Amino acid sequence: MIQPPDYVLDIQPYIPGKPLEELERELGISNSVKLASNENPVGPSPAALRAVQGAFADIHRYPDGAGYYLKQALAKKLGVAEDALILGNGSNELLDIAVRTFMKQGDDAVMAAPSFVVYAMAVRSVGGRPIQVPLKDFTHDLGAMADAITPATKMVFIANPNNPTGTINTREEFDRLMARVTEEMLVVVDEAYYEYVTDGSYADSMKHLCAGKNLLILRTFSKIYGLAGLRIGYGIGRKEVLNDMNRIREPFNTNTIAQRAALAALADDGHVSRSLEVNEKGRQYLYRELGGMGFSYVPTHANFIYMPVDDAPMLYSALLKKGVIIRPMGPKAIRVTIGLPEENFRFIDALKETKGIK
Ligand SMILES: Cc1ncc(COP(=O)(O)O)c(C=O)c1O
Repeated sequence: MIQPPDYVLDIQPYIPGKPLEELERELGISNSVKLASNENPVGPSPAALRAVQGAFADIHRYPDGAGYYLKQALAKKLGVAEDALILGNGSNELLDIAVRTFMKQGDDAVMAAPSFVVYAMAVRSVGGRPIQVPLKDFTHDLGAMADAITPATKMVFIANPNNPTGTINTREEFDRLMARVTEEMLVVVDEAYYEYVTDGSYADSMKHLCAGKNLLILRTFSKIYGLAGLRIGYGIGRKEVLNDMNRIREPFNTNTIAQRAALAALADDGHVSRSLEVNEKGRQYLYRELGGMGFSYVPTHANFIYMPVDDAPMLYSALLKKGVIIRPMGPKAIRVTIGLPEENFRFIDALKETKGIK
């Protein structure tokens, strides 16, 4: 039998959840609410939906491999050159491409724990070693992460805001880290929830990119733009870094429908502000209710809330039986996506009925 290398056998495969309909059938429930994947509960922009419909007639053609119009619009919006941009089949694909471009077996990469699980998976897939630095106060400890850099370090991953805790790193923290990384490594700043952040102390990654640092900033259309199912994200980086990533990028990695929908979504500021408003109201409601019930939670800068609990698996199953799907994060915490008002209410109502499980 053909065998993968040992470093591939060491990777735990991602276990996808069952389709919602299947889960409902098994549990004998209906109208469940899914607050497990940090999607935008408002849905996609109506303009994006129209663009999707308009793209149907062209799907016998290959997509535009360069993503010309989307990159043009992004460049204008972000104030960067078009050759400072790369598109991906979700920002997830860009993480993977970056690792495959710059790391080889025996190299290592510094990241936080817990943080987005894909960083460690991508690094292991090339035989690299993830160095996982514990969070401090639920936040990336950028000082400790800089201390963890070794001569074999090729990449540093920072999720800002962090998934699953929703915390951010400040400008000063980030500036201090950037002063300690060398030209021989790439810092990946994953800003999947960038559009949700309103805090004025939020790190300015773009400033460092403009100063010529080896930085790859990743953003996505999966979160506030509500296009998770289409899979499209983008990277902003130095031309030289992106040229190297383009060596191994699949020529048609982002599809026609996703490119057109993203272009329309990018121009729909109304949808973004409605989504922010729904998130803000939901956040305030959940803080109030959770606080009132004696649950602890980590104040969030994104569209989800991390809650330390006593028994996450038990709480997860109790909520599931009531048709509320959240994400257990290990034995002692859960993560819940901020939903529409009625979804948040269902979550709180179900929590009240879980007979004191915390
Ligand atoms: C921190 C972080 N980065 C990246 C992603 C992946 O996003 P995409 O859908 O663009 O692949 C997610 C999705 O949950 C995320 O939480």
